[in-house]
Amino acid sequence: MSSAEEVYDALAQEYYSDKHKTIRFFRGVQRGMLFSGIVKHAFGLNRKIGDIDILNLGSGPGQNRSDLCIYLQCLVQDRISDHRLHEVDISDAMLRKAWALLPDQTFYQRIEHTDRYPVLVKCDIAELDKYFKPGSYDMILALLCDHVQEQDKMYELAYSTLRPSGAFIVTYPHRELMTIIRREMLNTDIHHTVFEVDDKRHVLWSQPMAGSDLEQLFSGSGFDSWDCRDVCLQDGFYYQDEKVSPTVQKAFELSGRPVDKIPILAYGFGMKAPVKDITMTEELEKKLYSLMLWQKTSLLSLIDSC
Ligand SMILES: C[S@@+](CC[C@H](N)C(=O)[O-])C[C@H]1O[C@@H](n2cnc3c(N)ncnc32)[C@H](O)[C@@H]1O
Repeated sequence: MSSAEEVYDALAQEYYSDKHKTIRFFRGVQRGMLFSGIVKHAFGLNRKIGDIDILNLGSGPGQNRSDLCIYLQCLVQDRISDHRLHEVDISDAMLRKAWALLPDQTFYQRIEHTDRYPVLVKCDIAELDKYFKPGSYDMILALLCDHVQEQDKMYELAYSTLRPSGAFIVTYPHRELMTIIRREMLNTDIHHTVFEVDDKRHVLWSQPMAGSDLEQLFSGSGFDSWDCRDVCLQDGFYYQDEKVSPTVQKAFELSGRPVDKIPILAYGFGMKAPVKDITMTEELEKKLYSLMLWQKTSLLSLIDSC
């Protein structure tokens, strides 16, 4: 079996490329929930998005940063501050790609740790406490971090690295979808996935989840409250037959079930401590709704251009 570092170093150049349409597809499905989660939490904290400190675990090649900046700017005319969004990855090649996407590279230190947090940090999520002080972020994201074997530890470390009012947002490839893809298409078991890079076949550990698994992880690591869901395409703000990746399309066919009944992703939003109730004002509701509409109409071209 390969290590995550080895596989993602090899994969960095072609990540989100045509060759890995399923990864791109997941990115599209998870975006709407991620942005509305961030906006709602910022609103609940009564903070501007630009004043929020965010840590993105397993960041990959940096597109989360540009997605977040573009969308939130359009939605709430407020953008994440580049120096407040920090990213962690175990793969040096991924971080180098992310580095190239930073808007002003001279401003940042590069992939190394000092007393002042750099924007990009090469570290294993399981060792987060060696690099980040407790209570230092308002929001932590772990999008598609299913390769981390010690999932309990990831939640415990996220909990301690968050400020008291902090939130942890996670997504995973869904257990049901992955069971079909891995057992029937990749010929592996549910905990192993396959990446082919430069004609080499890498088998990598992965822990797909369902919403109910996430509830246990949040409750077991001390979070006060959580909202965990199984996300089907109809919930995902994004659905056009021809844009579903061929692998997922095939899995739909094999399952023999209607596409809107097969969960694609597990999504979780956990809060460390009770934050004042988020009052859904008409204004916020309109903004979130426009995000969904915008997501629907513009996603395909964004995905094609990334
Ligand atoms: C499936 S990708 C997800 C990338 C991005 N978050 C997204 O939503 O597209 C998983 C990323 O997590 C990184 N990763 C895997 N295991 C890790 C670990 N133990 N510590 C830090 N990063 C890890 C990989 O290098 C890769 O960039």
